[in-house]
Amino acid sequence: MENFTAFNPTKLHFGKNVTDNLGDTVLECGKRVLLMYGKGSVQRNGIYDKIIKQLNSVNAEIFEYNGIKPNPLVDDVSEAAQIGKLNNIDVIVAVGGGSVIDSAKITALAIANNTDPWAIMKYKVKPTTTKPLIAVLTLAATGTEMNGAAVLQNRETGEKIGYVTSLNYPKHSFLDPEFTFSVPKNYTAYGIVDLIAHALEAYFGEGNASLSDRFVEVIIKEAMEYGPLVLREPENYDYRANIMWAATTALNGLTSYGRKSGDWGVHDIGHNISYLYDTAHGATLSIAYPAWLKLQKNRIPERITKLGNQLFGTNSAEETTLNLEKFFISIDCPVRLSDIKIGEDKKKEITDQMLKNKINGMVHQFSDEDRKKIVELMM
Ligand code: NZQ
Ligand code: ZN
Repeated sequence: MENFTAFNPTKLHFGKNVTDNLGDTVLECGKRVLLMYGKGSVQRNGIYDKIIKQLNSVNAEIFEYNGIKPNPLVDDVSEAAQIGKLNNIDVIVAVGGGSVIDSAKITALAIANNTDPWAIMKYKVKPTTTKPLIAVLTLAATGTEMNGAAVLQNRETGEKIGYVTSLNYPKHSFLDPEFTFSVPKNYTAYGIVDLIAHALEAYFGEGNASLSDRFVEVIIKEAMEYGPLVLREPENYDYRANIMWAATTALNGLTSYGRKSGDWGVHDIGHNISYLYDTAHGATLSIAYPAWLKLQKNRIPERITKLGNQLFGTNSAEETTLNLEKFFISIDCPVRLSDIKIGEDKKKEITDQMLKNKINGMVHQFSDEDRKKIVELMM
């Protein structure tokens, strides 16, 4: 086992009606609130009204920034930060999925350090402080509600990248599984893929960490058991709750303690596809993971076989990949680019982008030949 520091400062409030205390929690951080959300789902499903009621109950002064899109843009973060600075806000309340909460994390840093958000994302400036962030999660997938990561894209530089800092952890996160009842089937399934992918990125990292491996295995088993059930019964509280908690634990440190790092090569491939075609994050991962496993099957056969043995009772790297792919298909997720109507004509574009951005894993590094092969395997 590698040395490690366990650190997670987020106070997570989980369960039915947990936002009934949101107002008081906000008040602990101040009255001037920047409220951030996406493109309107929170207004359609009534969550917005609940949050506004809470903020009004403590006489908060509310400044809004909405319209954050999936695969969020740094431009929105710049604008939100302007509004935050202009109005001298005390706290950000972010209501939404990963895109909204990630945008809010970088907005908080940009306001507190009075700096350009992209300079932060590119590690060109080192933020020293941040504004308190209170997250209200509406989609189970990314784990952003209890981690230090944020992912944004920049249409000018041609990148979708992640930024990690201990300052990014939300001060509080509110997770009411009922808030996810309205998530459409496709995004529910992408969330299930995403949480499995997070567990796998840890599993294929560096360092022997027996207990962390076991956490990976049970988190994926939980997702494979309750994923299909929640898709059949989207308003079943316990199914939604099990998936929501699994998604948090897949990327809040639990699966990584005792390792040097995760791998994250599949995520890098996925971000590249999202950047090019605005593909939903989880959909890129159900395509990229089988391809990555096929690339690695003769390089780390024992590791892949062990995973398949624990998850599916199989005994080879090929069978592991096949079964994972079968699971993704069973929840209606794409496993080839052609499934999302990206044809052979796009092969060069994707390959060029992969080569230009030097798409890579932290542990299992790609040569240019590997990058080309991965594109072939995804077609
Ligand atoms: O924009 P609105 O109208 O709110 O609709 C959203 C959006 O269209 C909708 N939605 C969210 N909650 C809903 C709902 N619809 C109905 N009912 C609800 N309760 O779902 C759509 C997708 O939302 P989004 O926030 O984009 O999804 P997700 O949570 O999967 O976040 C994806 C983003 O997070 C990044 C991804 O790269 C991607 O940009 N990630 C962040 C990570 C992190 N910070 O740790 C790690 C991940 O690996 C990932 O990279
Ligand atoms: Zn992910």
